[in-house]
Order: sequence, then structure tokens, then C-alpha cells
Amino acid sequence: MGLQGKKTAEWFERARASLVNGVSSQFRYWGDEDTLVIDRGEGAYVYDMDGKRYIDYQCGFGPIILGHGDPRVTAAVAEAAASGTVFAMTQRREVEAAEKFRKAVPWVEGLRFTNTGTEATMHAVRLARGYTGRDTILKFEGQYHGVHDYVMFSTAGAPPRSLGSRYRPVPWQSSSGIPEQIRSLIRVLPFNDTDLVERVFNDEGHRIAAVIVEPMLGNSFAILPKDGYLAHLRRLCDEHGALLIFDEVKTGFRIALGGAAEYFGVTPDVGTFAKSMGNGMPVAAIAVRGEPLAAWAAGGISQAGTYSGNGVAVAGAAATIDALSTGEPYARIEKAGKALMAGIRSICAARGVTVHTTGVPAMFGIVFSEEAPTEFRHSANHDSELYETVIRGMIARGVMPCDDALEPWFLCAALSDEDVATTLTAFDESLAEAID
Ligand SMILES: Cc1ncc(COP(=O)(O)O)c(C=O)c1O
Repeated sequence: MGLQGKKTAEWFERARASLVNGVSSQFRYWGDEDTLVIDRGEGAYVYDMDGKRYIDYQCGFGPIILGHGDPRVTAAVAEAAASGTVFAMTQRREVEAAEKFRKAVPWVEGLRFTNTGTEATMHAVRLARGYTGRDTILKFEGQYHGVHDYVMFSTAGAPPRSLGSRYRPVPWQSSSGIPEQIRSLIRVLPFNDTDLVERVFNDEGHRIAAVIVEPMLGNSFAILPKDGYLAHLRRLCDEHGALLIFDEVKTGFRIALGGAAEYFGVTPDVGTFAKSMGNGMPVAAIAVRGEPLAAWAAGGISQAGTYSGNGVAVAGAAATIDALSTGEPYARIEKAGKALMAGIRSICAARGVTVHTTGVPAMFGIVFSEEAPTEFRHSANHDSELYETVIRGMIARGVMPCDDALEPWFLCAALSDEDVATTLTAFDESLAEAID
């Protein structure tokens, strides 16, 4: 039996009649019987069209950090909507949001707002190419940087065994419709292996415009960087005149107010932000420091967008950053996340199931494998069938993480201790059922 109740199934039929496969983004399609239609969100919960309530650990794939419909954000957005949203000029709210952003992420000397993470990484890549005069981009397996052609290779959808030798990986094209020539502009490597990066830089460092990296693998179990790994990337980029781009679309404003740069103590040249900076508003940013910023400001490297910096989005960002800046949401999330991670480990131990929790309390992964993964290729060792069965059991019990373990659990500050307890009970019961 699928996940849809009667009314939800009817709404999905309606959705399918107009929206391609009934969704506006392919990752929301779980099959004809499992794709849900949501009526509303409130705090830590989402409600489907049958009124069934779920504790939400998808949080919209990461943006919801305060909770759905947070009143502080809602009020700011409503006020902005009533004041006119888009002008052919810079608006007051944009300036205020940019100032708050810079205070929260102090390494940033200048930024521009965009609407989505995809736009932000696309512009970051163009900036790196425009600044360095080089074309090649280095990325890592299992990392996702949005849907533009330049980065749609070896994403988390790739079968790990199709990636070639780890010494000479084959970029796996994640979609049809990408011109063949684009492949020659990308190098892809396993994450967390300093020797492999060093080899590529030694071979062709003079061609590399940028290394684009999710500082932790927000699309692959939330795997953390090994000690010194990001610093190593920083050093290689400096030695070879390439830019270091931190794609903080998932980590930014989530794992710390100052994102991964603050958390791991490594500063990139360019950062891309979205998701948690707006608690669900479509707002993103390309943030820069140093010479590349001067080069960008000098003109000739295009960035534009009719809706970039629109009033509703930036008002949402400003209100979210204000709320996050109090530190309270992080304390709440840390407590709930730690309790969940520890609880899941002890439930598994009690039931004789080997498990590893990866990542940090604000975004963590659960991996059923003997060894803890340190790179995307290790997903081949994970028991995805067991994981999916457990998560399906949890969803039936009203707790909703993504059923693909590569997508981390995302926590919001609206989670109560009771929600955590309910979640652990649902995990325990579902695991027992799955291994029975
Ligand atoms: C790390 C990372 N970068 C970029 C993107 C693309 O962002 P968007 O979906 O807003 O275009 C995503 C989306 O999940 C992401 O996880």
C-alpha cells in the first residue's frame, strides 16, 4: 500500500493532470502511490490532504530551520509583500538583509542575492572562470550543486560502481540534455582524499578555475570532512591560483550562523548560500571576498535576475537571520539532534543492528554499514533496503525523514522533546518490524 490516503490520492491525480508527474521538482516525485500532496506546515509538522500529521525531518530539503510558518518570518514577509516586491532599483530591505548577512558571516566582503541555490552556484562558477581566465572546474562525487549543466556530474544519483577508478574517475552525467562538450570542463574526485586532489592539481592545476565543494556532504549522508581536508583544498587553490568555492546551500546558516566556514575554520574565496538563510523563502546569495570581488565589481562578469533581491525574499532572510542570531534556534536543534543521534545508535545496538550516525545534529545521516562512510562511493556498502523499510514504517507512524539515506535528516528549532521521543519510538518499532 502506498503512502497516500484517499483525499491525498485524489489531489495527486489532480496534480498529475497539470504538473508533470504531479510535481514542480523531480526529487518530490516518490512514485504514483507515494507522492504526497501537502496541505500546510506548522512548526515541526506538515499535514497532508487527509489531515495526517507528520513530524517533518525533510524540512523542504533543508530550508526550514526555525519551523514552518514561523511568525517572525511570516510577519516580515507579509509586510514586505504589501509594500511592493520588485523594483528596477535596489530596495531598502535588500540593503538591510545584506548587512545582516555580512554580520553573520564575517568573512564575506560583498554579496549579491539570487533566488535559488542553482543560480548562486552557476554565477559562482562564472565568476571563477571570469576571474581566472580558466575553464576547468573540480567537484566531488556525491555532491550536488543544483541543476545547471556545469555541475550535473557524479551527483548522489550516480550508481557508485559507474564512477570508474578512484584514481581516474569518470564524470557520470546526471541528466540527458547536457552538451557532450561540457564534460571536458569538469574533473570529479572522491571526497576526503588529499592525495587524489594533489595529483589533479599537479597534472593540470594551471587549467583549474575553481574547486567547488560542499564542505560536508549535504547530499550524501552528511559525511564530514576529515581533519585538515578543507585546509588542504585551501592551500592547493592558493598555490595554483584557483578559487575555492564553498557551496553552503545546505550548510549555510544551518550548521552554524557563519556556516561551514565558521564551523570548520576554513575560509573560501566564494560562498553560495540559500535554504536556511530564508526559512523557506526563495532567497540565495553569492558571497565573495578579496580580489575576485574587485574583479566582479569592475564589470564584465555578468550576473542579473529580475527577482534577485525581491522584497519578500530578503525580508524573509532578514527576519530569519535575526532569529538565528539570538543563538536559541541552534541550541534547541543541537539538543534535539544529539538526542536523536544517540537514541538511534542505542536502539540499533539493542536490536543488534550495526549503524553509524554521520554529520552534525542540525543535519545528520543514518548509515547501515560495517564502516562509517567517508566518501560517496561507500554508499555501495549501505543497506538501503533496510533503511527504506525502516523509514516507510516511520512515515506510516507520522514521522517523515526522506527514505533515501543519502539525504540527511534536517532539524528545525520547533521540534519539541516530545517530538524527539515520538520519533525514537517510531524508529524502534519500525526497525523491529523491518528485521523481524
Ligand atoms: C549543496 C547544494 N547546492 C545547490 C543546490 C541547488 O539549490 P536549489 O534547489 O535552490 O536550486 C542544492 C539543492 O539541494 C544543494 O543541496
